[in-house]
Amino acid sequence: MKSAKPYIEEHKQRFLDELLELLKIPSISADSAYKQDVIKTARAIKEALQNAGCDTVEICETPGYPIVFGEKIIDPELPTVLVYGHYDVQPPDPLDLWHSPPFDPVIKKTDLHPEGAIFARGACDDKGQMYMHVKALEFMTRTEQLPCNVKFMIEGEEEVGSASLGWFVERNREKLANDVILISDTGMIANDVPSITTGLRGLSYVEVEVTGPNRDLHSGLYGGAVANPVNVLAKMIASLHDENNHITIPGFYDQVQEASEEERSKMAEAPFSIEKYKKALDIDDVYGEVGYSTNERNSIRPTLDVNGIWGGYTGEGAKTVIASKAYAKISMRLVPDQDWKKITNLFKDHFENIAPKGVRVTVKPHHGGQAYVTPIDSIGYRAAEKAYEKTFGKTPIPQRSGGSIPIVALFEKELNSKTILMGFGLDSDAIHSPNEHFGIWNYLKGIETIPQFYHYFTEMSQ
Ligand code: BES
Ligand code: MN
Ligand code: MN
Repeated sequence: MKSAKPYIEEHKQRFLDELLELLKIPSISADSAYKQDVIKTARAIKEALQNAGCDTVEICETPGYPIVFGEKIIDPELPTVLVYGHYDVQPPDPLDLWHSPPFDPVIKKTDLHPEGAIFARGACDDKGQMYMHVKALEFMTRTEQLPCNVKFMIEGEEEVGSASLGWFVERNREKLANDVILISDTGMIANDVPSITTGLRGLSYVEVEVTGPNRDLHSGLYGGAVANPVNVLAKMIASLHDENNHITIPGFYDQVQEASEEERSKMAEAPFSIEKYKKALDIDDVYGEVGYSTNERNSIRPTLDVNGIWGGYTGEGAKTVIASKAYAKISMRLVPDQDWKKITNLFKDHFENIAPKGVRVTVKPHHGGQAYVTPIDSIGYRAAEKAYEKTFGKTPIPQRSGGSIPIVALFEKELNSKTILMGFGLDSDAIHSPNEHFGIWNYLKGIETIPQFYHYFTEMSQ
């Protein structure tokens, strides 16, 4: 495989322009007001895949948003790479914290991206990273170097739990048959410290509701005499961690696979500066489970975090009131071998159990998924390693990530293949936050590295 560098140099402006166009469509899967835009994005991906050289591309209808499936089969005897990505994005709020409109992409330089970064919702997660694969395919087909078969499966519901993708995968095992799954929807340590993601955390996401009196009450007339749902909820949530920041739900850690000392000491070798970390977040100290380092806390350890909490009066000024109800949304990040459904039930039982008399508690599970860890001796991992060595001039570091892509564990179960996570974003790219961005250098480096993966994977499979 020849280097893609000259081709990228020649077509760089168009590669950027095409991505900017895609980023202008607000494909927010969580908000039904954007339904037409989500569907419009699926059509745009279909066109892009056709232009990049897929022989067939279909928009596959599902009970939810469509899945774009494309393929180019050059020889059934050769290996098949299945590329997965998502074209939906997170809601952009809070809007007033964006320095430019989220769906009006602009290019600006930053300290970490001196060559410029594209600022827009979805720039990194995942439109930009998904589109690297489309352009990598274009390079391989136009220069007649595609070494194997390729399939693309791009979904529109990742940010809301991938319900339709599970449905689709179960019904299309044959169509999706492959030798390796390739995903760019994670990150790497730094532009000069390439890494390959070898693990993802699982997830259990729940919503709780605490109900006290049957109506909002005057906080003077009733205060002190009845349970205040907001007070009670705060106390219940606070009790979910002990003084060492261990989670107190009985049985929560029972299935946790402890990392070996060998793995922990390897992890500790990865370059990391706690001072820079604190400075970037403007915090005077880190915080977390006693006995574990920051990088362990955010990757190999399970967590419980409130993602939102509300109840009572939150408008301007003061209103004296005891609310009838209080709510919270809670995520638990899980590690191998925790079962997300079991954890959801443990949470529900425990939370109902600790509710004091005077309130009623309901727990509503949202979505979830299993954690994933991939071995570093598979053909896929070794091919990725060689690809990075070629384009970065350095051996990438294997790194477990704290984020979740729940569908990856399901791929392994339903399609029986390993997933390779070649992410080119940085943790500081602000995915899910205001001012999300993706470095232009990273975008182009991804397009350069992906074809090398195809080359080595095909070579090493024979
Ligand atoms: N691409 C992210 C996951 C990710 C980002 C993993 C960076 C590792 C490094 C994905 O789009 C995402 O946001 N996943 C959700 C879970 C999903 C069920 C909503 C998450 O991790 O919160
Ligand atoms: Mn993503
Ligand atoms: Mn995301």
